[in-house]
Amino acid sequence: MNLLSAQNLSHKFDYELFSNISLTLEQKQSIAIIGASGSGKSTLLHILSTLLEPDSGEIELFDKDISSYSKKELSSMKRDDLGLIFQSHYLFKGFSALENLEVASILSNQDIDEQLLKRLNIFEVINQKVTELSGGQQQRVSIARVLTKKPKIIFADEPTGNLDKHTASEVMDIFFEYIDSNDAAMILVTHDEELANECDKVYRLENKELISLK
Ligand SMILES: Nc1ncnc2c1ncn2[C@@H]1O[C@H](COP(=O)(O)OP(=O)(O)OP(=O)(O)O)[C@@H](O)[C@H]1O
Ligand SMILES: [Mg+2]
Repeated sequence: MNLLSAQNLSHKFDYELFSNISLTLEQKQSIAIIGASGSGKSTLLHILSTLLEPDSGEIELFDKDISSYSKKELSSMKRDDLGLIFQSHYLFKGFSALENLEVASILSNQDIDEQLLKRLNIFEVINQKVTELSGGQQQRVSIARVLTKKPKIIFADEPTGNLDKHTASEVMDIFFEYIDSNDAAMILVTHDEELANECDKVYRLENKELISLK
């Protein structure tokens, strides 16, 4: 089953970023998108995750065109089924790491997985305020927060950008195990070709096109 299907997406800001991009994402599948800085990767991820409307093209999520979702359906889908891990973390700054996870846990009615916190190596710092955590710790808290709500599709923009190689590879393993055991899927934007190659499919955004590399 396709969780996401995009047809002929085009978008421009000051100049055309890409045109006629099509892509499908199946259950249990992981897709990586690489490409030069400024090529439009984050923009494409924003469009695929319904944060930004493309200039043209269609997107189906869970076999239904997003234009036919009501506002209410769209916001509950975003809350429960789409997991966004973006370059800026959007954690609630005045709160502790745990309080940030509790918000996700309450909103989506899912338990916080203590084992996940231990694997992400944030269990020890979970009661500290977000502002007292390192950049990499904040990044791992936002990953834990997204996984806590048990999304069907993870959209991750450089989720391991602040992490050392070993931690980054552990985080990738957590993602792969998660999508496999939850019938979920992931679209990952990264500059790290080695990490990208761990995904089932790899595309490069280049010359306004999405070129299939794997
Ligand atoms: N909201 C916006 N308004 C105007 N221009 C924008 C907006 N967002 C992005 N852009 C422009 O679109 C281009 C692509 O940006 P985008 O963030 O998608 O690139 P990227 O491939 O993710 O780059 P990076 O690897 O550096 O994160 C850039 O030139 C950027 O300035
Ligand atoms: Mg980007």
